[in-house]
Amino acid sequence: MALWVQYGLMGVYEKHILPRILHLVMRSRDLARLRAELVPQARGRVLEVGLGSGLNLPFYGAGVDAVTGLDASPELLSIAEKNNVGTSFNLDFVARGAEDIPFDDKSFDTVLTTWTMCSIGDVGAALKEMRRVLKPGGELLFIEHGRSPDPKVQAWQDRLDGLWGRCAGGCHLNRDIDGLVREAGFDLHQLETGHLVQGPRMLTYSYLGRAGR
Ligand SMILES: C[S@@+](CC[C@H](N)C(=O)[O-])C[C@H]1O[C@@H](n2cnc3c(N)ncnc32)[C@H](O)[C@@H]1O
Repeated sequence: MALWVQYGLMGVYEKHILPRILHLVMRSRDLARLRAELVPQARGRVLEVGLGSGLNLPFYGAGVDAVTGLDASPELLSIAEKNNVGTSFNLDFVARGAEDIPFDDKSFDTVLTTWTMCSIGDVGAALKEMRRVLKPGGELLFIEHGRSPDPKVQAWQDRLDGLWGRCAGGCHLNRDIDGLVREAGFDLHQLETGHLVQGPRMLTYSYLGRAGR
């Protein structure tokens, strides 16, 4: 197949098909259980990095004044906008990559990410940006999937990483999430790891945590 046809098809897949698949897959009850555990801990002015189709929005509690949803995919943000049935807090959307967050230093009380650090191109730069915009005393809250400590699972994660990424919007199977969070200068306040959701072991090793700057 000619190269330009292949690129054209990939573009259609990434722009029109993948956002709908992600919206459906990310709605699972299993993931909702973890959202219900993490998201209500958000406080004050919140930056959600990788808002996606907005599936965390119903879980924000009364302590939240405003949420800014940043995502590299305008298509997913428009699904979030369409599905939003109203929130008790101010909500706005920013279509932009997290490697260059367009906000002042120390401007958010909470930065939240769920199943997003796997897909960000330069996740180290994005985490430094998240730390920069977090106020002193504020927290980064996250649930992510990543590298398993089991050598057999790790081997499969490494083997299938490139192929998986091409099908799943650049998602990496094998990122060492707490290592990346620490490397960006955060102090971990809490970390729970393990197969916290059901599914293939390669995809379900999870990191649920809270970190300060
Ligand atoms: C698996 S989805 C998770 C969406 C949402 N956080 C959820 O829990 O349903 C990964 C998200 O990361 C977003 N993403 C990928 N690269 C990004 C980047 N560089 N900056 C910001 N968001 C990015 C994708 O557009 C997508 O919305």
